[in-house]
Amino acid sequence: MGRYDFLGTCDVVILSGGNSDEREIALASGRAVERALGQLDPAPRLIDFVDMAEPGAAGRIEAQGYDVAFIAMHGKGGEDGCVQGLCETIGLPYAFSGVAASAVATNKDLSKHVYERAGIPTPRGLSFASPDEASPEKIVAELGLPLFVKPSCNGSSYGITRVTDASQIPAAIELACAGGDLALVEECIEGTEVTVPVLGNDDPEALPVVEVVMGEGAEFYDLKVKYEPSELHHVIPARLPEDVYARVQELAVAAHVALGCRGVSRSDFIITADGSPCILETNTIPGMTETSLLPDSARHAGIEFPELCARIIELALDRVPSDSTAEGA
Ligand SMILES: Nc1ncnc2c1ncn2[C@@H]1O[C@H](COP(=O)(O)OP(=O)(O)O)[C@@H](O)[C@H]1O
Ligand SMILES: [Mg+2]
Repeated sequence: MGRYDFLGTCDVVILSGGNSDEREIALASGRAVERALGQLDPAPRLIDFVDMAEPGAAGRIEAQGYDVAFIAMHGKGGEDGCVQGLCETIGLPYAFSGVAASAVATNKDLSKHVYERAGIPTPRGLSFASPDEASPEKIVAELGLPLFVKPSCNGSSYGITRVTDASQIPAAIELACAGGDLALVEECIEGTEVTVPVLGNDDPEALPVVEVVMGEGAEFYDLKVKYEPSELHHVIPARLPEDVYARVQELAVAAHVALGCRGVSRSDFIITADGSPCILETNTIPGMTETSLLPDSARHAGIEFPELCARIIELALDRVPSDSTAEGA
């Protein structure tokens, strides 16, 4: 069993898939975790969460008596506190953040308030429920151009537009609101894009900073870039001056703590030319394929993928009984 002997005979269920826009990515994560922990006895069982709509499905999971759930879902329904609430209700320990932290982190509008309160620089932004509420001229006067318009609660770059002209704003807001979300309109921060994984519960530590380098044609870190490996590569450690590197790690830990994350988080930042980090978002269930950002970073810290999966489970079992946000803690 090698690197994860410490889990012993832990009976793990991997809750994966779901029905968000990120379903396929979630399944890829779930299957990678299943393979990585394949030597466990009993072997982990992967459940596709769309099957949870069947009557009695939650009860069947409960009756199975699993020791812990590894949640491999992204976005709506899986990363936003819903599945976490189900696990709380049936008394099943689960990996990653609790209900409140998951819900707040996945909502880019709410998390902005948390970052601001914690003194973590974030792009200036405005939110709108529909294009009718928004005056393109006023938005441009306040935030300038280009702008980013995104759904407050989606992930993986779905529904995001990089706006270069005020006339594009109404359609961009319409698109961002299509799934019933608020549209978040943000000033564009130019600079080097990095992401910083943080590992731990009460005493979290940053892993190596990953610089996200895009192909020539890419305007931003959009879907094509994220999932077509030729369009992207990770530079680890990120090529930043030492003090900036340390500062962005410190801010990622601060975001993890301010949101009340547990287990793992991965915060995305842009570093401006003068070396100031600006946080875009915190992912509470980062991609978990072997070549995803978090596993790549962990590997550079000497933590191979199976061990990373096992450490995440270990942190889940160390969870405090009820959900807690660390505001003011
Ligand atoms: N305010 C911004 N300034 C510059 N680039 C941005 C901004 N917001 C988003 N982006 C670009 O869009 C990508 C996706 O945005 P992000 O907020 O991280 O949402 P997602 O949940 O879809 O990953 C980022 O990785 C970055 O390349
Ligand atoms: Mg992102």
